[in-house]
Amino acid sequence: MTNRDVGDIRQRCEALQTDFFSRRALIIAANRGPVTFDKAEDGSLQFQRGGGGLVTALTGLIQHIDATWIACAQTDADATWREGNAPLTESGHTIRVQFLAPEASTYEGYYNVIANPLLWFLQHSMWDVPRAPVIDRATWRAWEEGYVVVNRLFAEAIARQVRAFSRPTLVMLQDYHLYLAPRFLRDKMRRRERPTLLHFIHIPWPGPEYWRILPPAMRQAILEGLCAVDVLGFQTQEDGLNFLRTCESHLPRAYVKYKQGRVWYRNHATHVRDFPISIDVEALKVLARSNEVAGYRSEIEKLVSDRKLILRVDRSEPSKNIIRGFQAFEEMLEHYPEHRGRVKFLAILVPSRLDVDEYQDYLGELMAAAGRVNATYGDSQWEPVRVLVGENYPRAVAALQVYDALLVNAIADGMNLVAKEGPTVNQRDGALILSERAGACQQLESGATVISPCDVYATAEALHQALTMPAEKRREHASRLRWLIEQEDIAAWLCRQLESVVELKL
Ligand code: G6P
Repeated sequence: MTNRDVGDIRQRCEALQTDFFSRRALIIAANRGPVTFDKAEDGSLQFQRGGGGLVTALTGLIQHIDATWIACAQTDADATWREGNAPLTESGHTIRVQFLAPEASTYEGYYNVIANPLLWFLQHSMWDVPRAPVIDRATWRAWEEGYVVVNRLFAEAIARQVRAFSRPTLVMLQDYHLYLAPRFLRDKMRRRERPTLLHFIHIPWPGPEYWRILPPAMRQAILEGLCAVDVLGFQTQEDGLNFLRTCESHLPRAYVKYKQGRVWYRNHATHVRDFPISIDVEALKVLARSNEVAGYRSEIEKLVSDRKLILRVDRSEPSKNIIRGFQAFEEMLEHYPEHRGRVKFLAILVPSRLDVDEYQDYLGELMAAAGRVNATYGDSQWEPVRVLVGENYPRAVAALQVYDALLVNAIADGMNLVAKEGPTVNQRDGALILSERAGACQQLESGATVISPCDVYATAEALHQALTMPAEKRREHASRLRWLIEQEDIAAWLCRQLESVVELKL
């Protein structure tokens, strides 16, 4: 694909978006908003823009659309600010934002008990089922007084906004925090005032067997909620297929049409599609060229010196399989001693969800695992593993420019955007080692070394191969990855969702 082709796709996308939103209003509903406010010491409000895919996708078209974003307040300042126009782009374009402010104990049950860990762990196949989860009275309370309540709050807020718009509205709901809201919303609205509902699920959807972990009432409520939307988007075809199978197994009176990707339930059709999410390739390239990134790159080059670099960049998250990554590195050093002293493993980790015990514990365990590798193989000249914990995106981009091997070995992952960011900015024809259970595998398989995430032995072999791969092959893989990523960037992700609404004449 040439630059011109990519340009053409972009233009077609922009035309579609402009046309689409000239006749419709947009509501986004997501746990996190596009901005977060904080009170500075002098009492003034300061804000930080969020970095998620949707914020990125919208920045390009925000000046053309009438949009409201509904989210849960993340800070006290969000809750005080409550509602208004928040700046979304550097050039001052704004989006209307409404923060919902549930009671702290309600939010706790919704976010820290049900969404993470119960649903997150289930959908990433992470429960150690003989021991966990234990769904006890506290979990049920978190469900009824947390998850259900917050989903109702969203449905009420969306209904109010839809009524405030005088034209047809597209509601884009995001992710596993809001599975119940669509049903509550439909039940609330009269047929002629109903908006088009599009729900995108960013995380994997496992098969029906795994959903048996949830009590029937919970899983049925989730499926009923999702079967109230018009278009249900997943990251991969397999996730969509698993959803259809889950409805067939667990939703009585649902009628599933596999060929058309459709579920009929309570006289309503839900169309199931896959829309693989991506990155803003151009914006990332601009950032990669910045002085700030160059400064961090020098620091990292100093740290790595003349050694090869194995890199991972992740949230400190159990589904990312960080410990097995260190074990694989250890196994590689054991079997291929020629790498000792000649390679550094750098793990750049962003702290995540530390109010959930499982996440706290995991951070401690992974630090210990890194320490063990250093204690076994390191000496005064060579520290095999370095873990950098903190939120610093420019530093991560700098590291991505200089890896020889990028390790993405997630146990399960909706997409994994690092697998797309890495090849886009890397300057060394670095190899990508990619878990077969990351959504990115559907698109990037042909340019990556694919591994099974529990197979530490194969991961160690893949690391060795990546470090010893002939230059010609590395170049070929790296350019294939760049090509695959550039043709389907974040604009295409949004566009494909809008196209499906147009095609289905919703
Ligand atoms: C995943 C989820 C998102 C979530 C993000 C960060 O990508 O799909 O919905 O926002 O992780 O997690 P957090 O809990 O910090 O919002």
